[in-house]
Amino acid sequence: MTSVVEAAVAAPSRRVRTRHFLMCPPRYFDVSYAINPWMDPSTPVSPQRALGQWTMLVEEYARCGHRVDLLDPQPGLPDMVFAANGATVVDGAVLEARFANPQRTAEAGWHAAWYRRHGDRLGLAAPQPAHAVNEAEGDFAVHHVPGRPGAGEGASGHTRVLAGWGFRTERAAHEELARATGAEVVALELVDPRFYHLDVALTVLDDETGLIAYHPPAFAPRSRDLLARLYPDAVLVGETDALAFGLNSVSDGRNVFVPAGAEGFLTELAARGFTPVPVDLSELVKAGGSVKCCTQEIRGPRAAERSRG
Ligand code: ARG
Repeated sequence: MTSVVEAAVAAPSRRVRTRHFLMCPPRYFDVSYAINPWMDPSTPVSPQRALGQWTMLVEEYARCGHRVDLLDPQPGLPDMVFAANGATVVDGAVLEARFANPQRTAEAGWHAAWYRRHGDRLGLAAPQPAHAVNEAEGDFAVHHVPGRPGAGEGASGHTRVLAGWGFRTERAAHEELARATGAEVVALELVDPRFYHLDVALTVLDDETGLIAYHPPAFAPRSRDLLARLYPDAVLVGETDALAFGLNSVSDGRNVFVPAGAEGFLTELAARGFTPVPVDLSELVKAGGSVKCCTQEIRGPRAAERSRG
């Protein structure tokens, strides 16, 4: 076993890329229906406690220099706090969401309206409607694939989306996303209902190089093989940390905002040169969501981003 000191010396230095997030305060948060195995409508829920915990996450993002825009919560949409599901923004293109369950259908329209109102100013294209069911970043994980130096065209690399299917998002939506954004889309089949969205089974730790972490048993054997082949350096996360929502985290390239209960994963992140930022969102976990579920990333046009950074 390497000591903490050795690990810190061996770990690469990590670089922050400033993020722009869209989030929605849990003002009307509740567990009034069950659409995933974590939800039990008989469990008492405190919207005040949820709001307090969520506010701490927003404060951590701000402390690390990230920009957070807010979407107005709507009565009757208790899951609207899980903003990651509301739209997908990749390289300046916006694909609307289309929810699998009627209880959440109306959320997509509020997100689309937000982008119609603010997208122009942010340099984003008009939101594109979705025909197939997609729960946005709940099932879409985005990273850059660096190109090989000297490879000529494409040397600067391309954008890849790891796209889950099996519980919520339909496979046809992967095609729609590829067309809408121009990104390469890699389909991954989810098989364990506890990990019903990709973002509870896999997270991108470094989106410039494509370093990911995931829980292999959440995926069908062929998808597992594909992940092993594409990501030989990935951090593999065991069941205890995965069930503590460890993979429902957000990384800015150095700081990883991660559910506090995923202790083993926190240690592993530190050994890999990341700065774990533990966050307690236990009230929101009653609805089956944590850090990443609350956080939608607004990714502007890539060239513009490069010259800014
Ligand atoms: N109760 C919500 C649902 O089942 C939780 C969504 C969590 N969001 C996520 N990105 N995993 O739809």
